[in-house]
Amino acid sequence: MPLLEVSGLTKTFGGLRAVDDLSFQVEAGQIVGVIGPNGAGKSTLFAVMTGFHTASAGEWSLNGQSLRGLSPEAICHRGMVRTFQIVQPFAGMSVLENAMIAAVSRSRSRAEAKAHAEEALHWTGLSAKRDMLVGSLTLADKKALEMAKACACGARLILLDEVMAGLRPTEVQRVVQTILTLRRERALTFMIVEHLMDAVMTLSDEIIVLNFGSLLARGTPAQIQRNDKVLAAYLGGGSDA
Ligand SMILES: Nc1ncnc2c1ncn2[C@@H]1O[C@H](COP(=O)(O)OP(=O)(O)OP(=O)(O)O)[C@@H](O)[C@H]1O
Ligand SMILES: [Mg+2]
Repeated sequence: MPLLEVSGLTKTFGGLRAVDDLSFQVEAGQIVGVIGPNGAGKSTLFAVMTGFHTASAGEWSLNGQSLRGLSPEAICHRGMVRTFQIVQPFAGMSVLENAMIAAVSRSRSRAEAKAHAEEALHWTGLSAKRDMLVGSLTLADKKALEMAKACACGARLILLDEVMAGLRPTEVQRVVQTILTLRRERALTFMIVEHLMDAVMTLSDEIIVLNFGSLLARGTPAQIQRNDKVLAAYLGGGSDA
């Protein structure tokens, strides 16, 4: 059984089909890249799968259990969480406190939440900054904190929405290493939305390409890089070029 199974997933905003009849599967331990031009529906896909938007049609399940109609908290509890393209920390609180908030729902005590949070900060390279106010962090550390929060909540499948955007090459490398380490050491599974092609091609076992909400192509990075439909979509030629 795949870890995640998505079938016919659709999200409309008025007349716009932001996610249009998407079907795909993710196996445990995979890193699946999700790419596509601006407005292709990548963030909306993550928002629907994690309960931030209601689906207009379709089904999706984690470990064979349907997630349709569940809240973001319930979906997180079942094991899937997303990060936000625009980072959303509590700026006046410390790094550790932010991570603890993410860990609260799976913890029976403050001490347990703290332990989960500290472990997540360790994996994401933020341990030394645990007492800093989040408002004073660099963008790279704010993005790392998004990943830490996702880890702290205990999810097994983490959906990363542009956690590398705006970072310097060395900072991108750090995120790439964090993702690979978390997969290897913690057996986490990732879907990553990213515009940085080098990083996404390096990281991904498989890539899903969206265009106008639909699945344009799916394959290994090598297959996607020589796919004419994908090239055309990125050059603005549309999906049928
Ligand atoms: N809450 C909303 N209400 C109405 N339309 C929306 C809403 N959210 C997204 N859209 C529209 O849905 C489409 C898909 O948007 P989405 O943000 O998912 O794209 P994306 O692939 O993440 O793009 P980007 O790469 O720029 O982040 C766009 O046309 C967008 O304008
Ligand atoms: Mg987006």
